[in-house]
Amino acid sequence: MKKSKSTQAIHGRKDKSYRAANYPIYQSTTFAVEKSDNYEKFIGDEEEFYIYSRYSNPTVRNAEEKLASLENTEDAILFSSGMAAITTAILSFAQKGDTIVALRHLYGMTYRFLRDIAPKFGIDVHFVNEAELYEMNKLYPNAKLVYFETPINPTTDCVSIAKTAAAAKKIGALTIMDNTFASPINQNPIDFGVDIVVHSATKYIGGHSDIMAGAVVSSKQLTKSVRETMKAFGGCINPIDAYMIDRSLKTLKVRVEQQNRTAQRLAEFFMRQKKVSRVFYPGIPSSRSYKIAKRQMHGFGGMVCIELADLDSAKKFCDSLEIALNATSLGGVESLVSIPVLTSHIKMSPEELSAAGVSEGMIRISVGLEDVEDLVLDFRQAIAKI
Ligand SMILES: Cc1ncc(COP(=O)(O)O)c(C=O)c1O
Repeated sequence: MKKSKSTQAIHGRKDKSYRAANYPIYQSTTFAVEKSDNYEKFIGDEEEFYIYSRYSNPTVRNAEEKLASLENTEDAILFSSGMAAITTAILSFAQKGDTIVALRHLYGMTYRFLRDIAPKFGIDVHFVNEAELYEMNKLYPNAKLVYFETPINPTTDCVSIAKTAAAAKKIGALTIMDNTFASPINQNPIDFGVDIVVHSATKYIGGHSDIMAGAVVSSKQLTKSVRETMKAFGGCINPIDAYMIDRSLKTLKVRVEQQNRTAQRLAEFFMRQKKVSRVFYPGIPSSRSYKIAKRQMHGFGGMVCIELADLDSAKKFCDSLEIALNATSLGGVESLVSIPVLTSHIKMSPEELSAAGVSEGMIRISVGLEDVEDLVLDFRQAIAKI
């Protein structure tokens, strides 16, 4: 039977021993073999044969299977953080002499990995803007890998997934897309031709600001290569955190859909405020991302970005809030605000910030699950204090 998203996320593997409603936490680093000959199964890559939890673990597999089905594909691998997932995925497919084309507008640490660390492995990275991304087959016909994210951190600007994937296919390049801002509820990039989806599962997938995790989601053929690299780099998730991800996936749809609704209301509220010079949210019809987002997203997401006059005003606004926390990260039940130039986008030059569309007066808002009326009051009184 084809199951819808919440049903898939709730009903995964069943506990055969005691029929527990929750799949157990196999908190064990190692698994004994009945006979030494059974190691043949490990050599033969038999899926349900566990020997060591850095390679695989039943609790981890349960959460991975749910994530794969939420992203409409075959397999997933969980990691100890989003950055472990992103760097392991990239280094599984790019090696010395290869070219990566990357959208210039990225989460700051991903940008810094591609700018500072990938070249140390002999990988050539070209940062491009949106128009160049769609033309990469002409500009960089030798590219091996294409890396991008949409909605983009922190501006929530969107790029076309289908156009990017089509340009990459023309030159046989693999595409890796960060789907963190949307979550698998609001967007499924594989449906638009992307090869590999990565997530910071620390955000919406974990959803409660209490788990660091990451995920690579793709076909069995591609995750096989990533798992081999992961076994060597060692960025595996531990069983307790995988259980927490499983617990969180069960409520992902209701959480994200409520966050979508509240974010839309707040974006409309900010649009009416004179001291807010710009509001970025894909759900606003006048936004430059609206058309693209409508084509590729099921919901516009829980991330809103606003721009005030300058850094001083942004600091005053954030320091005056009584409900929303002034904290980095996103996707949790509590609303968070952060100033990108002080957090996610530090250590970038003024030229790089400007090219990435990030200004000093910008504030990124991760909309939580508080009552929308309370959030409006909180944001209103903070604006009055600027
Ligand atoms: C869009 C995006 N991708 C990746 C990451 C990295 O994830 P993690 O902090 O789980 O390593 C972040 C973290 O903020 C993010 O916002």
